[in-house]
Amino acid sequence: MFGKRSGDSPSKDVLAPTIQPVRADAGAQQGRQVFAAGQRGSLLNPAAGSPLAMQGASRFDAAQTSRRSDNYYDIKSTIFNALIDAIDLTQLSQIDREAAREEIRDIVSEIITLKDVVMSVNEQEELLEDICNDVLGFGPLEPLLVRDDISDIMVNGSGTTFIEVAGKVLKTSVRFRDNTQLLNICQRIVSQIGRRVDEASPICDARLLDGSRVNVIVPPLAVDGPALTIRKFRKARLKLADLVRFGSITKEGATLLEIIGRVRCNVLISGGTGSGKTTLLNCLTAYIENDERIITCEDAAELQLQQPHVVRLETRPPNLEGEGEITMRELVRNCLRMRPERIIVGEVRGPEAFDLLQAMNTGHDGSMGTLHANSPREALSRIESMITMGGFALPSKTIKEMVCGSIDVIVQAARLRDGSRRITHVTEVIGMEGDVIITQDLLLYEITGEDANGKILGQHRGTGIARPHFWDRARYFNEDRRLAETLESAEIQGGGG
Ligand SMILES: Nc1ncnc2c1ncn2[C@@H]1O[C@H](COP(=O)(O)OP(=O)(O)O)[C@@H](O)[C@H]1O
Ligand SMILES: [Mg+2]
Repeated sequence: MFGKRSGDSPSKDVLAPTIQPVRADAGAQQGRQVFAAGQRGSLLNPAAGSPLAMQGASRFDAAQTSRRSDNYYDIKSTIFNALIDAIDLTQLSQIDREAAREEIRDIVSEIITLKDVVMSVNEQEELLEDICNDVLGFGPLEPLLVRDDISDIMVNGSGTTFIEVAGKVLKTSVRFRDNTQLLNICQRIVSQIGRRVDEASPICDARLLDGSRVNVIVPPLAVDGPALTIRKFRKARLKLADLVRFGSITKEGATLLEIIGRVRCNVLISGGTGSGKTTLLNCLTAYIENDERIITCEDAAELQLQQPHVVRLETRPPNLEGEGEITMRELVRNCLRMRPERIIVGEVRGPEAFDLLQAMNTGHDGSMGTLHANSPREALSRIESMITMGGFALPSKTIKEMVCGSIDVIVQAARLRDGSRRITHVTEVIGMEGDVIITQDLLLYEITGEDANGKILGQHRGTGIARPHFWDRARYFNEDRRLAETLESAEIQGGGG
């Protein structure tokens, strides 16, 4: 049913005839030129001078370690072209993936036989996998997309792909046939949300079906070919216990955050890109009670709240004509009319800061958000400048008072230069002195050095504050004893270490 030239019988049981055209066309026209019967042996003979001659027997070993030789790509592209000739891709995309795979598998085996390509079963399997990925999925990206240990995939043109694994950025040997193949894959990704990338609109944000976030920027803006960046969606978000296990925070620190989440402090999570802000926000939301109505506002729904009473909102970028945008500010404002008990803003980066602070100030305590800043102090000034730049004609002091009145705690996340993530500050906003906002640290991370492997050494320590500013709140929620114990043991830990 996928044979372009095999008539168009709709019935499923005539899959076999689709192979006929391969035999007739591809075999006759292309195949003979490249894989003429007499060259059968030459595929195994490095001296034969055929364009497909293998560089010794290691050809497919190389393929396995994914340092694939040009020969592999030559063979693949010949088989691929024959396949494309034989099937109708648009029809193929309409049946389910497994059936399509089977169909491709049959045709490819047929082509391999026809063209006298000598391969072991393993080699064939691998080639088949590759071709299926090209036809049905995101090509060379597929093996990376299925790996759950990869957090980011960064493609810089067809020849260079980096990944981030366990905080480290590594170069991979994944490569695309050429920039056209890469562009096609980008196109396929963004077409899922009804967008296109081309010279006219060379930038596009999209999302994979699994929730991973994608950015594509293509020439002429990207000089060396399409640049594709994927922030992979973690199926299982890290929990506070995981962060403790990784040493991102101590057990006491985790308990402190748990209490902060439970007793409805208004929290800002501050940090750089990829420092773990969203992860941390997700962790904190775990301690929200089940009977609270929570509304989340995000650019791309990443948070995974477990509570039963959650409304998730997502901003919308403008369409191709530049219309229809719904900004974060509009979402936050709307959500105030939805009777929220807690408002969670994925990332605060503009005038919505004002609305979030207002919300925090007016009975929606326990609201949270993340923002991009390198220290708690910087977070405060960033909030202030977001409001100033949002066009609110308020005196600086008024804005500061508003910040002070709304934010209780700032949690700072950082990605250190060895790739590890640490929670470096748990800091309270306690009031104003003159024109200055006063903060007090409850927990700090101190770097003490670096070991021989470049791993950063350091320790978390309590600052000796026994009664934080949110003490009354903790008492109200009956968490005062636990809070006191936690702070005390955090201090002893730090002091002794
Ligand atoms: N404490 C941590 N230890 C190890 N990996 C982490 C930690 N926190 C976050 N990550 C991972 O780092 C990546 C970026 O985290 P994310 O929370 O999305 O960062 P941000 O929101 O700051 O950009 C994710 O893959 C996440 O799983
Ligand atoms: Mg984030």
